[in-house]
Amino acid sequence: MKTIISNSEDETAKFAADIAKFAKPGTLFALHGSLGAGKSVFSRGFARGLGVTGSIPSPTFTIVQEYKIDRRKQKIKRLYHMDLYRIPDSNNALAFGIDEYLDDCDAIKLIEWPERIEEILPSDTVHITISHLEEEKREIKYNDN
Ligand SMILES: Nc1ncnc2c1ncn2[C@@H]1O[C@H](COP(=O)(O)OP(=O)(O)O)[C@@H](O)[C@H]1O
Ligand SMILES: [Mg+2]
Repeated sequence: MKTIISNSEDETAKFAADIAKFAKPGTLFALHGSLGAGKSVFSRGFARGLGVTGSIPSPTFTIVQEYKIDRRKQKIKRLYHMDLYRIPDSNNALAFGIDEYLDDCDAIKLIEWPERIEEILPSDTVHITISHLEEEKREIKYNDN
């Protein structure tokens, strides 16, 4: 487990972009943290790190935002950014077809509110927990195995 302190939105985004540069295809990043912690800020930074240049809207209503990634060196073809806030549990998630996204080995998955589908998260999930410390100060913990 590693812990870093972020002192601004930009620092969180930069940290996420750095992680993205070494991410392997298929990896699922579970983004834990309360409302306003910075999960979406992290996700945007991560997407930028993978070379996404257009707008990165919040998937609050769409549940999933999909991005085409062209990183031949990393062999990553897609990025799925999901927000499961409106999904009550894994049965609901499976009903909407989440397994199709989870099973995509060429894609990186970023999931906000992963607690909703705790029972079906793969065992090699990378858990990232963002905690609100002060106005612009956040603690980011992650398992980096
Ligand atoms: N160090 C920081 N890291 C991330 N966000 C921060 C930080 N400091 C302040 N913020 C603010 O906190 C909010 C985080 O929002 P968001 O990423 O949408 O949260 P979540 O997706 O976890 O609900 C943004 O308004 C952002 O500007
Ligand atoms: Mg969010």
